[in-house]
Amino acid sequence: TRPLKVALLGCGVVGSEVARIMTTHADDLTQRIGAPVELAGVAVRRPSKVREGIDPALITTDATALLERGDIDVVIEVIGGIEPARTLITTAFENGASVVSANKALLAQDGAALHAAAEKHGRDLYYEAAVAGAIPLVRPMRESLAGDKINRVMGIVNGTTNFILDKMDTTGAGYQEALDEATALGYAEADPTADVEGYDAAAKAAILAGIAFHTRVRLDDVYREGMTEVSASDFASAKRMGCTIKLLAILERAADGASVTARVHPAMIPLTHPLASVREAYNAVFVEAEAAGRLMFYGPGAGGSPTASAVLGDLVAVCRNKLAQATGPGESAYTQLPVSTMGEV
Ligand code: NDP
Ligand code: HSE
Repeated sequence: TRPLKVALLGCGVVGSEVARIMTTHADDLTQRIGAPVELAGVAVRRPSKVREGIDPALITTDATALLERGDIDVVIEVIGGIEPARTLITTAFENGASVVSANKALLAQDGAALHAAAEKHGRDLYYEAAVAGAIPLVRPMRESLAGDKINRVMGIVNGTTNFILDKMDTTGAGYQEALDEATALGYAEADPTADVEGYDAAAKAAILAGIAFHTRVRLDDVYREGMTEVSASDFASAKRMGCTIKLLAILERAADGASVTARVHPAMIPLTHPLASVREAYNAVFVEAEAAGRLMFYGPGAGGSPTASAVLGDLVAVCRNKLAQATGPGESAYTQLPVSTMGEV
C-alpha cells in the first residue's frame, strides 16, 4: 500500500509533539491504519528555528504551495487563529485532503462553513483535540451517544485557567505567577487573554453545544465571564463555605426542548463535588443523557503531548476512512434553536 502523505501546518507546542509521535510510533501507526503515514511537509512561520527530529528539507513557509501539490492525503492544522488557518483548511479540501484540526477558535466561528466545505469535496473534518485536550469527548458525544438525547453538559474545559485557579487556591500563588507557569508549560493560547477572559472555554462550549443539542451555537451566543477578577479573598470566602472556585462551561437544553443555554463563568463548587478535585491543567466534563444517565469525562486538558494524542487519534481515523474510500460522520442534521444565556446553575 502506498504511504498516506500528511502535511503538518504548524510545529509549535502541539505540532512538534505530533511530529515526534508520528516518527516514534511509525510502526504502530502503520499497523493500526493499514498503510504507512509519511510526513510530507511542515509549514511554519520561522523557517530557521531548529526543530528537533524534523528533516529540515520538509520545512516550508509556503503552506499553500504544500497543499496545492495535490498529493497530500491528510492535513493537520495546528497553527491556530482564524487566518490563514481557515483559508488553508479550505484549500486542503479543494486539493483532495481531509483535515484534522485542534483549532477551537476557528471551529467555533466557522465550523458550519468548514463542515459544508468538507462535505462538498467528500472529505473529513475531525477535531477531537479542539475540546478538552487528550480527553475523548467530541467523538464519544458525536458517535457513541448519537442514539441518546443529551440534555446537559457541564464542566471545566480550559486547562490554563484551572491551573491558575488551582495554584491560587492551593499554594497561594499570585495570578500572574501562575499564568506565567501555565504559559511556560505550553497550556496557554498564543494570546492568553483567550484563556483568562473565557473566550477559549466559550469556543469549546459553542462546539460542544452544537454537537450535544444538534443545533448551531456561535461563539457570540455563549455568555462569557473570565476569571481575571477572582482574587485571594474570593478563595478565602469560598473556603469558609466549604467551596472552591472553578471556571465552568454550562450547556443546557430547555425542558421543553425549544431552546438551549450556553454560558462560561467562575462558580463556587462544594469541596465534596468531583469538579473540586480537578487539579492543574486537567479538565472534567459531565454529560447528562436521557438513557445513559450521567457520564464524566476526565483527563489532561492542555499541553503538547496530551493534545497530540487526540490529534493522532483523529489522524488514524481519517486515514482509515481514506483507505476505505469513505468519510466519517460530518455535521449531523441540525435544527436551529434559540440560544439563551439564562438558566439554572
Ligand atoms: P504554538 O503557538 O505553539 O504553535 C503555532 C505554530 O504555528 C508554530 O509552529 C508557528 O510557526 C506556526 N505558524 C504560525 N503562523 C503560521 C503561518 N502563517 N503559516 C505557517 N505556520 C504558522 O501553538 P500551539 O501548538 O499551542 O496551538 C496550536 C493550535 O492547537 C491552536 O489552535 C490551539 O488553540 C490548539 N490547541 C492547543 C493546545 C495546547 O495545549 N497548546 C491544546 C488544544 C488545542 P513558528 O514555529 O515558526 O512560530
Ligand atoms: N489554552 C487551552 C487550555 C489549550 O488551556 O485549555 C487546550 O485547549
